Amino acid sequence: MAMTPLRSYRGVMANIVILTGAGISAESGLATFRGPDGLWEGHRVEDVCTPEALARDRETVLRFYDERRAALATVAPNAAHQALAKLDAEWRGGLLIVTQNVDDLHERAGAERLIHIHGELLSALCEGCGGRERFAGAMLGGTVCAGCGAVNRLRPDIVFFGEIPYDMERIEAAVQAADLFVSIGTSGAVYPAAGFVRLARAVGAQTLELNLEPSEGSFLFDERRYGPASVLVPEWVEELLSRQ
Ligand code: APR
Repeated sequence: MAMTPLRSYRGVMANIVILTGAGISAESGLATFRGPDGLWEGHRVEDVCTPEALARDRETVLRFYDERRAALATVAPNAAHQALAKLDAEWRGGLLIVTQNVDDLHERAGAERLIHIHGELLSALCEGCGGRERFAGAMLGGTVCAGCGAVNRLRPDIVFFGEIPYDMERIEAAVQAADLFVSIGTSGAVYPAAGFVRLARAVGAQTLELNLEPSEGSFLFDERRYGPASVLVPEWVEELLSRQ
């Protein structure tokens, strides 16, 4: 199924913004949030992903992220991550991957033009000095901030519900300059990420959804393809690069 040609090219090559969600990491073995066996089936958001939960029951929150951080060592990027890294390396136009995921699979596949809008498991935030540092271990065992020396003040560098997502200005500028906006493996349930497709449409970008099933915003996409990301994403990337 050939993709409809990009309606507009600014300069030589199109500017592409790609939004990814938990569905792109599902075939690597990382749980998604909603749907069968979703993380929010086994945990209440209110218990592990809010500032109030961190204040009320720090141990439960740190354990939830310690377990997810430890799981990263047991998984690897899949063909969808690899395909996006190839696009990142070979696409001569503008490209930005905005991931809602807090895993490091895009990086391990080689992607560089990447933003983590919801933070990263492998980063820690100090509640003492506000500094961020790379962190790969377990917080429950006790921590010392590399920046200010504060003891047990490191928290997961994850954007909790009710907190401000990262890099919004940079992301919105990229979407406003986009010729093509592609959403991969996300349910479209959480804002502001779920609203980016509307911003893309408002500036005349073409929109494409690659997902296992229709998302909450699927009606907003010009083109929609359904199936596993590990099949759809490599197919789409090859189509695009063959037309460059
Ligand atoms: N290939 C493609 N899509 C898939 C696959 C797959 N193999 N498996 C699941 N999906 C799709 C599901 O159909 C669903 O639409 O991925 C989507 C996953 O949706 P969610 O679990 O809601 O994950 P996500 O959209 O990333 O959640 C957004 O919500 O809880 C917050 O901060 C958290 O970043 C997360 C945000």
